[in-house]
Amino acid sequence: MLSSCGYCSRSEARLWARGGRIKVRGQVVKAADEKFLPEEVTVDGEPLESPEGILILFHKPAGWVCSHDEREGQRVFDLLPARWLKRNPPVTTVGRLDKDATGALIVTDQGELVHRLTSPKHHVPKLYEVTVDRDLDPKLVAIFASGELRLEDEPKPCLPGKLELLSAREARLEIVEGKYHQVKRMFASQGWTVTRLHRSRFGEFELGDLPVGQWRKLAL
Ligand code: URA
Repeated sequence: MLSSCGYCSRSEARLWARGGRIKVRGQVVKAADEKFLPEEVTVDGEPLESPEGILILFHKPAGWVCSHDEREGQRVFDLLPARWLKRNPPVTTVGRLDKDATGALIVTDQGELVHRLTSPKHHVPKLYEVTVDRDLDPKLVAIFASGELRLEDEPKPCLPGKLELLSAREARLEIVEGKYHQVKRMFASQGWTVTRLHRSRFGEFELGDLPVGQWRKLAL
């Protein structure tokens, strides 16, 4: 239990038990191979963190990558409790946001949920706020909604997206898939460069007033 929650390795758990750091219902437990209910276990007097699993909505700041590979830059995981990456399975992001993009990012250790929220079959809506480099043309609304917009190297056209123009260079775009750099490529295909990209909603999960760099736990 301790090792799957990221506290220590299985062999360390034995040492921790022998050292009296683990209690169940307030009583020290010395044998690491007994089975207990997670909610009854404490380590150094603290209850186990999220034994049922991790699911959070994180407000990703600009400048951090969603990759697990440190060579790609500062990782969003380094903004989260270190123990979450040591869990088994470790946490991962549900889809990715580009390094320069901000906004709603779901982080979880629930593989089934990752699949459900990222599978193209499930058409989970994602809402983006976009700023571009020159004045928008209202014709983009119909182009993005057409279901016929083709991106380079993609076998299928983009499913219809809902574009709402907010000001000369700002818009909201809702899409139900997550092709690589999709929002930037949709605008680029029509001659616009996205200069700011922010995701305000992922499926049912709305960022609201969650401050940048903070997270909120979601019900599993
Ligand atoms: N579309 C992009 O171009 N980038 C993102 O990060 C998300 C969607």
